Amino acid sequence: MDNQDNQSLKKNHLPLFLLLLSKILLFSQHVSSETDSISMSQQLPEGKTLVSQGGSFEFGFFSPGSSENRYLGIWYHNIPVRTAVWVANRANPVKEKSSMLHINNEGNLDLVNQNGSVIWSAKSTKKAQSPILQLLESGNLVLRDETDQDPEQFLWQSFDYPCDTLLPGMKLGWDLKTGLERRVTAWKNGDDPSPGDFSWGISILGVPQVMMWKGSDEFYRGGPWIGIGFSGAPELKTNPLFEFKFVSNNDEVYYTFNLTNKSMISRVVMNQTLLTRQRYIWIQDAKSWRLYASVPRDNCDSYSLCGPNSNCIIADSPVCQCLTGFEPKSQQSWDMMDWTQGCILTDKLSCNDTSKDGFMKFSGLKYPDTSHSWVNQSMNLNQCRDECLKNCSCKAYANSDVRGEGSGCLMWFSELQDIRQFSGGGGQDVYIRMKSSAIGRRGHNMNLAVILISLASVIVVSLVLYFIGKRIISLRAKNTEKKLLVEKHDDEGDKEDLELPIFDLATIVKATGDFSFSNKLGEGGFGTVYMGTLADGQEIAVKRLSRSSGQGLNEFKNEVILIAKLQHRNLVKLLGCCIQGDEKMLVYEYMPNKSLDSIIFDHAKSKVLDWSKRFNIICGVARGLLYLHQDSRLRIIHRDLKASNVLLDSELSPKISDFGMAKTCGGDQTEGNTNRVVGTYGYMAPEYAIHGLFSVKSDVFSYGVLLLEIVSGKKNRGFSQSKNYINLIGHAWILWKENRPLELIDPCMENSCDLSEALRCIHISLLCVQQNPEDRPTMSNVVVMLGSEGPLPQPKEPAFLTEKYSFEVDSSSKQISSSTNEISVTMLEPR
Ligand SMILES: *[C@@H]1O[C@H](CO)[C@@H](O)[C@H](O)[C@H]1NC(C)=O
Ligand SMILES: *[C@@H]1O[C@H](CO)[C@@H](O)[C@H](O)[C@H]1NC(C)=O
Ligand SMILES: *[C@@H]1O[C@H](CO)[C@@H](O)[C@H](O)[C@H]1NC(C)=O
Ligand SMILES: *[C@@H]1O[C@H](CO)[C@@H](O)[C@H](O)[C@H]1NC(C)=O
Ligand SMILES: *[C@@H]1O[C@H](CO)[C@@H](O)[C@H](O)[C@H]1NC(C)=O
Ligand SMILES: *[C@@H]1O[C@H](CO)[C@@H](O)[C@H](O)[C@H]1NC(C)=O
Ligand SMILES: *[C@@H]1O[C@H](CO)[C@@H](O)[C@H](O)[C@H]1NC(C)=O
Repeated sequence: MDNQDNQSLKKNHLPLFLLLLSKILLFSQHVSSETDSISMSQQLPEGKTLVSQGGSFEFGFFSPGSSENRYLGIWYHNIPVRTAVWVANRANPVKEKSSMLHINNEGNLDLVNQNGSVIWSAKSTKKAQSPILQLLESGNLVLRDETDQDPEQFLWQSFDYPCDTLLPGMKLGWDLKTGLERRVTAWKNGDDPSPGDFSWGISILGVPQVMMWKGSDEFYRGGPWIGIGFSGAPELKTNPLFEFKFVSNNDEVYYTFNLTNKSMISRVVMNQTLLTRQRYIWIQDAKSWRLYASVPRDNCDSYSLCGPNSNCIIADSPVCQCLTGFEPKSQQSWDMMDWTQGCILTDKLSCNDTSKDGFMKFSGLKYPDTSHSWVNQSMNLNQCRDECLKNCSCKAYANSDVRGEGSGCLMWFSELQDIRQFSGGGGQDVYIRMKSSAIGRRGHNMNLAVILISLASVIVVSLVLYFIGKRIISLRAKNTEKKLLVEKHDDEGDKEDLELPIFDLATIVKATGDFSFSNKLGEGGFGTVYMGTLADGQEIAVKRLSRSSGQGLNEFKNEVILIAKLQHRNLVKLLGCCIQGDEKMLVYEYMPNKSLDSIIFDHAKSKVLDWSKRFNIICGVARGLLYLHQDSRLRIIHRDLKASNVLLDSELSPKISDFGMAKTCGGDQTEGNTNRVVGTYGYMAPEYAIHGLFSVKSDVFSYGVLLLEIVSGKKNRGFSQSKNYINLIGHAWILWKENRPLELIDPCMENSCDLSEALRCIHISLLCVQQNPEDRPTMSNVVVMLGSEGPLPQPKEPAFLTEKYSFEVDSSSKQISSSTNEISVTMLEPR
């Protein structure tokens, strides 16, 4: 404990300290300012405080909120926002500013008012020679013998009597030897620290589980410890900010957490007004607390919302569903959305004849309430099953520890309460008892379902093939009857015709004011983009290919063919094209909010994009890219994903643009080699920038860079403020290693930011920018990771931590066309 350090420090200053002490004793019985302890002969009156050795916490009298009442409490000393973390006399305020605290002759702590009545007191476990009261750097106020620093020997400590806050190092739970329960209880409200009826602790009924109560009723159940965390609390997962552990043995049962970087400030608090438990993190730059996570998260977290034997699925409507093999106990109440009676087995268990009973496996569940459960850590799943089958009251079993292959045995001996479904890698497997015939029938039904689905898909596929067979994609033009036929040779050498609306040059000239400078939107790799308005008022974006570009025509055809076929809400839509003489143009839907880079990198505008909008963009771009990589009929690698190629529609939803450089791969070809490297420095994967090797994983790299840029509001390239050429990736990696990744988050998102979500995005982005393409996730992995709460692999050191590489590459490149403020490399000969 920090205590140790304090003491050694103190020792060094002992003579000085004694001198001071004697001085104080001579003149008054009060404490001097800036001390962390008082001894038996001293007192702590109004106006005096104790400050912990390192200056983290302060202890003294205060009035909470708008209350005039005086309380003795502990708050953070080193932050400007008064935040109380502990209150001594929470239920017994003093009215006058004339009370004081002292250690009485018995060695107990007494808070005494002016009349000498004891308002509050703390009993010492035993009588000590020379007791002192000390405020430790951890925020723990301890009564101990002056000569004994062993935490085990503390005579009393505030950490044993939590109020509404759990601090790092505090234990939530039970000392089984003394019967002491450490439970966190909310304040009644912001002005009144007296105990509300909303609390958080560990239930030791049956198999221990984390629980929140409203009065004596269960409110939210975090569930039993399953080795990696608690079954019902997937939000509590390995993260770079804090560590946590759960200890359960014959002596004690508790949960505790620890900050990985001691310079961080974080607390968990119960709030009666909101009925939530919140984890806050202090953000130094913003001088404010930010919410990291809060529970309950949704309706399915309400304790046993759906009654026994049913499953709460938040995405379903209604959210309550009987578990497979079960039916509503009362169909009538169930239909009225009164789920309290829950569900019962459709087929009664035979029980007498165990050979007729079996277990059905359910996945992705929160373990049911373990109040009537039993655990044996040394049994395996098969032994668990056999043991459960033997006793008819055993309703279900599961692994008690899900790490690795899973181990241990957890059995339920009551109706299954408070189950919910987790999606995307959260939740566990539970084996639920039912009649073997019911399991068989379900299998049969499933087979039937599979057959039906197969039949349906065969029909759908045939229809699709029929239409594809006709090889016609027809897009009706509003403005013209003319159609462009573009021939495209498939890899098999087949011919493919595409119909695409074609615009007159005159129409385009009129729409864009003859390509006036004021209508210019920007410049891409192969040309300039203009905004235009058609005669009917429709706004369009016109990409005019530069005539000088030698590759122009091919690129153009490539883009036309590709985009015409691609339909996804996160891809920009091609309306038509225009070819006349030397002029080649693409006509897109117009995006009123322009490109992402024009907003996120602009200090004033970036405030428009709060966290939920940014997260929406992050997810949208991921889905668009996934569609290009996997879901579209062609496998397309974008090769130039960057912030300026992500356009925003009127709702600020993202649309990926600029497929001119995209490369198609036939069939399942996922990699290619090119002697023409196209792309943008800062976004290019190392194997692509250096060797010209591209794959879906090089797009993933670019996506990772984009993700970092969206979270931080800073550009990867041109990031370095110093001479060391560190880019955004390098900066992110350093912060990640030092356990301070929150500093990466764009400060302008101050209060909108869901820190745990942003942190997950940073984590994912670091996985995307790994040096080795095989270490990077696929876009479908990314989409799953963004949408779930399951654990993520630890990133290794990413590629391209500095900007130096690009200078080396520059020297060998043949041609660099400089456009806008980025450099698009259009030609680069690999070595
Ligand atoms: C102290 O005693 C006086 C006289 O008995 C009484 O009026 C007053 O309310 C008491 N104050 C407190 C804080 O108990
Ligand atoms: C609970 O949260 C509300 C809303 O954020 C806040 O006003 C109130 O002060 C909080 N209660 C406590 C005891 O901090
Ligand atoms: C807290 O930190 C200490 C030392 O830094 C470590 O020994 C301990 O295991 C940590 N506790 C938790 C819960 O991670
Ligand atoms: C168990 O067996 C007895 C007699 O063999 C029978 O009467 C009873 O109904 C059976 N119970 C169940 C639950 O099947
Ligand atoms: C747990 O299971 C093992 C193996 O079946 C057994 O030897 C042991 O006695 C069990 N422990 C308890 C506490 O029941
Ligand atoms: C079945 O389990 C319950 C709960 O553990 C226990 O009370 C009961 O004695 C067991 N019955 C048998 C036959 O072992
Ligand atoms: C903790 O964070 C501070 C800055 O907030 C940093 O200077 C320090 O290196 C970090 N410590 C560790 C161990 O990462």
